[in-house]
Amino acid sequence: MAVKFLETPGQVLIHRDQIASRIAELGNEIAHDLVVDLEAEGLGADASDRVVLLPVLTGAIIFTADLVRHMPLNLSMRMVTVSSYPGASKMSKGAKLRSELPTDLEGMHVIVLDDILDTGQTLGLLHDMISEQNPASIRICVLLDKQGVDRKHPVKADYVGFEIPAAFVVGCGLDHDGLYRNLPDIVALDG
Ligand code: IMP
Ligand code: MG
Repeated sequence: MAVKFLETPGQVLIHRDQIASRIAELGNEIAHDLVVDLEAEGLGADASDRVVLLPVLTGAIIFTADLVRHMPLNLSMRMVTVSSYPGASKMSKGAKLRSELPTDLEGMHVIVLDDILDTGQTLGLLHDMISEQNPASIRICVLLDKQGVDRKHPVKADYVGFEIPAAFVVGCGLDHDGLYRNLPDIVALDG
């Protein structure tokens, strides 16, 4: 039986091959920086219980799955849920934590992973809440950093896959009303 595939719902901004090679670079860069930090503490890449990744569900799952396979060091992963674009909205409605934040981050090297930095409310909220726990370090890594946006929080990403213009994009984990996360390319949604 012939399977009819979904048509791309807009213009491809970033092709899957570019995404794959950039994510490999990012993973290596972050892992390198973490190992430098661990070595400064007299530890190595095999140190356990020191590095924790916090992917922001649901958008970061695909990015995270690709990234961690380029990070050859011991790490754990804990998910957090923040909602900001309820339903079919394309405008941020402010960030709300919808899950427990781990409470044992003191002394840890924390990497917060998200699909996109837009108004900064999601990552700003997480950054502020994590800082209160006195982690050894906090790094923010996003696949996409939207340019020309009215930032509502001064948070910055330490690692950025791609800077993109202020379009609404889907694919590679990013959704519109729950759909299109499975598109392999980053696509600017029409309309
Ligand atoms: P912020 O709190 O405004 O920075 O928004 C970040 C969150 O909004 C991200 O985690 C995404 O889930 C969502 N978001 C922002 N821009 C887009 C977009 O262009 N497409 C899909 N989701 C987006
Ligand atoms: Mg999100």
